[in-house]
Amino acid sequence: MYNLLKGKKGIIFGALDQNSIAWKVAERAHEEGAEFVLTNAPIALRMGQLKELAEKTGSEIIPADATSMEDLTNLVEKSMEILGGKLDFVLHSIGMSVNVRKGRAYTDPKYDFTTKGWDVSAVSFHKTMNVLYNKEAMNEWGSIVALTYMAAQRVFPDYNDMADNKAFLESIARSFGYFFGRDHNVRVNTISQSPTPTTAGQGVKGFDGFISYAEKMSPLGNATALECADYTISLFSDLTKKVTMQNLFHDGGFSNVGVSDAVMERFTEE
Ligand code: NAI
Repeated sequence: MYNLLKGKKGIIFGALDQNSIAWKVAERAHEEGAEFVLTNAPIALRMGQLKELAEKTGSEIIPADATSMEDLTNLVEKSMEILGGKLDFVLHSIGMSVNVRKGRAYTDPKYDFTTKGWDVSAVSFHKTMNVLYNKEAMNEWGSIVALTYMAAQRVFPDYNDMADNKAFLESIARSFGYFFGRDHNVRVNTISQSPTPTTAGQGVKGFDGFISYAEKMSPLGNATALECADYTISLFSDLTKKVTMQNLFHDGGFSNVGVSDAVMERFTEE
C-alpha cells in the first residue's frame, strides 16, 4: 500500500455486496488511508451487506436515494459533519434500467421506465454534483469519478437504454467538470470499465457470452473490479491533479481493437 489517500475524506455511492465495484473501491480507499461515508438507496441497504463493509473500514452509512435532492443534501451535510470538513473525493457507482429489468426491447420501451432509468443512472450524477458544488463541499484539487460503459460510444444490443443513460452520464461529467474545474479546481471524470460480474452487470442479457467475448478481444484481458478500484484510487490521489472532463477506458485495450487473433480463430475454424 502506498498511503495515496492519507488524510483524504470522501463519499462512496453504490456498494451493494462484495462483488460491487464500489465495495472494492471502499476497501482499497481504506487501505490507502482515506476516511469516508458509505451510501446507498434505502431499499438496497435493507437487502445488502453494507454494514459488514462499514465495520471493516470504520465508516458510517447514510442512506440516500440518489435521485432525491433532499436525500443528497442531507448526505453531503452529514458527511461533512462526520468527517469533520470538506470532501476530497466522491465515487458515483450507480446504474439501473427499469426497461432492462422488465425485459422491454430497446425498440419498444415503456417511457416511464426510460425516465426512471436516466434519472437513476445519469441525472443522479448531476444532482450529486449540484449539491457538492452549491454547498462548496469539495476541497480544492478534489476528484469526482463516475463509472460508465463503452455502450455509450458503440452498439451492444442487449445493453438496451443503459447505452443512452451512459452517454448522458459521460456528457454530464464533461459539462459539470468545466464549472467544477473553473470555480473550485475540482476534477470530474468517468471510468469506462470492462464487463464485470456484479449484480448490475449480470442484469444484462447474455452477460456470460458478452464477458468472454470481451476477454478474447482485449489484449490484456478484462479488467476486474479490484483493478477498477486501483484505477479509481489513482484518480482520487494527488498524482492525477490535471486529469479532468475525460472518459477514461479501463478495459484491457478492448475499445481500440477491431478484431483479435483469438476471435478470428473462432471464425476460421473448419
Ligand atoms: P452493483 O449492482 O453492485 O451496483 C449498482 C448500485 O447502484 C447498487 O449498489 C444499487 O443499490 C445502486 N443504486 C441503484 N439505484 C439507486 C438509487 N436510486 N440511489 C442510490 N443508489 C442506487 O453493480 P456494479 O457493476 O458495481 O455497478 C456500479 C457502476 O459500474 C454502475 O454505474 C454500472 O453501470 C457501472 N459499470 C458496470 C459494469 C459491469 O459490467 N458490472 C461495466 C461498466 C460500468
